[in-house]
Amino acid sequence: MPDHVIAIDHGTTSSRAIIFDRSGRIVSSGQKEHKQIMPQAGWVEHDPMEVWRNVQEVIGLALSRAHLTRHDIASVGITNQRETTVVWDRTTGRPVYNAIVWQDTRTQDIVDRLAGTHGVDRFKPIVGLPLGTYFSGTKVTWILENVEGARARADAGDLLFGTTDTWILWNLTGGVHGGVHATDVTNASRTLFMDLETLEWRDDILAAFGVPRSMLPEIRSSSEVYGIAETHSLLRETPIAGILGDQQAATFGQAAFEKGESKNTYGTGCFVIFNTGEEIVHSSNGLLTTVGYKLGDAPAHYALEGSIAVAGSLIQWLRDQLGIIGSAAEVEKLAAEVEDNGGVHIVPAFSGLFAPYWRADARGAIVGLTRYSNRNHFARAALESVAFQTRDVLDAVNTDAGFALSELRVDGGMVANDTLMQFQADILGVPVVRPVIAETTALGAAYAAGLAVGFWSGLDDLTANWEEQHRWTPTMDEAERARRIRVWHKAVEKSMDWVD
Ligand code: G3P
Repeated sequence: MPDHVIAIDHGTTSSRAIIFDRSGRIVSSGQKEHKQIMPQAGWVEHDPMEVWRNVQEVIGLALSRAHLTRHDIASVGITNQRETTVVWDRTTGRPVYNAIVWQDTRTQDIVDRLAGTHGVDRFKPIVGLPLGTYFSGTKVTWILENVEGARARADAGDLLFGTTDTWILWNLTGGVHGGVHATDVTNASRTLFMDLETLEWRDDILAAFGVPRSMLPEIRSSSEVYGIAETHSLLRETPIAGILGDQQAATFGQAAFEKGESKNTYGTGCFVIFNTGEEIVHSSNGLLTTVGYKLGDAPAHYALEGSIAVAGSLIQWLRDQLGIIGSAAEVEKLAAEVEDNGGVHIVPAFSGLFAPYWRADARGAIVGLTRYSNRNHFARAALESVAFQTRDVLDAVNTDAGFALSELRVDGGMVANDTLMQFQADILGVPVVRPVIAETTALGAAYAAGLAVGFWSGLDDLTANWEEQHRWTPTMDEAERARRIRVWHKAVEKSMDWVD
C-alpha cells in the first residue's frame, strides 16, 4: 500500500492539493487562486473550466514538490466549497453558464416565488434548510430559466448539474468519456433537493423547482470508491474514495466524530458544525440541519450548522475594495496597535445576514464612526465582527443542544490570527483550541478517502492523530463581555433596518 493520500480542496477563493502521510501530517501542497467574477451587485461567479485547470495544476505541484508520483498515492479525497452550482453539457463537457457561487443572491425572486404562501420553511422539515439564495436549488432553476436553450436541453437529458465536488469528480474520472456523475450525502444536503431521512432526491421538490431528475448526480456516501482517475491524469488509476463538503470535511478532520462534538472554521465565511449523531435535530434557533458524514454503508451522522457568510472575505474586502490594508496579514498588525475598536462596529451583511438571523434584506453596516476613527479601528472592528458573529451562532447551538459547549475547536486560515482568537475566547467566555494540523478541511477529505481503501483502519486511528497546539483562555470579565455583545446587537439591528 502506498504511503500517502492526496486531498483536493477546492474552496471559494482557491484550489489546493495537499498530500498527507499516515500520521495526518502535510507532506506537500500546491495552491492556485481563481477569478471572482462579479458582474453586478449581489452576483458572484466562478469559471468552471478555470477551476478544473487549476485543480489539475495543483495536483501536479503537490506531487512534484514532494518528488512523488501516482504510485505513492493510495487514494484521492475531494472537498469543496458547498452549494456553488455548475450545469454542463454531458456530451461536450462545456458548462452552459459560469458556476453560481454560494454567496450569490440573484435568486431572491425565485426564493420568494417558491415560498409563496407557504413561507421559507416550506421544505425545511424534509431537507433541513429554509428556502434561500445560499443553497444550490434556486441557482439551478435560475440557469434553466435564464440561459438560452438551457430548459430544452435539460428536458432532453443533455445537461448535468453538480456542486463543485461533482464537477471535479466527473472530470477527473474521464468527463465526456464516461465520467462518474455522483456527489456525496453532505453536498447533496445543501441543495434543498435531498430528503434527510432517505438520503434520496425528492421528486415533488424537484418538480416545484422545475428541475428534471436526469440532471442530478447519484448520491453516494462520503467514503467509498466512486471511480478511478482517467488515463491522462497525473493520478491515473488512483481511486477517488472520499467526498465531503468543506465544512463537514473540517469537522471530520477535527476528529469530531461523536454526538456533541463541534468545530468552527474561519475561511471565506465561518461555519460552526455541531454533531448530533444519528439523530436529525431540527433547530428552533436559526441553524441548518445537514448531513455530517456517512462512511460507506454505515448510518449517516447528522449535524446542526451555523453558517456565517462573511469572515475572511471581509478582510479581502478591506484590501481589494477599500484599499485600506495592503495585505490580509496587515489586518492583525493594525488591529493590535489599538486597545479597542474605538466604538466602530462592522456588520458585514454582504449577502444579507445568514445564521442565526437569515435576513436576506440586511445590508452591510459600519456604525459608531467619529472623527477619531481610523483604519486601525476598522481593522479591529473587522476581526471583532467575525468573533461576534460566531458568538451569535454558538448561542443558538447551546440553546438547540440544551447545554453550553465547554470549549471551541477552531481551524481555517484566520486561526493564525492571535488577536482574533484571543478576542474570540473573550467574547465566548470559553477556551478556543487550535489543533496541530489546522488544515482540517483537506485532512478530513484525506481521512474519508483513506478509510475507504484501508489506508487507515478506523476512526480510532484518526482520533489518535488529533493533537492540541494552542489554547486561548478568556480574560475579559463578564460585565464587559455582556456590554460588548449588547453594543454588537445594536449594530446588527442597524444592518437589518436598512431599506434603500
Ligand atoms: O457553504 C459555503 C462553504 O462551503 C464555503 O467555505 O471555506 O470557501 O469559506 P469556504
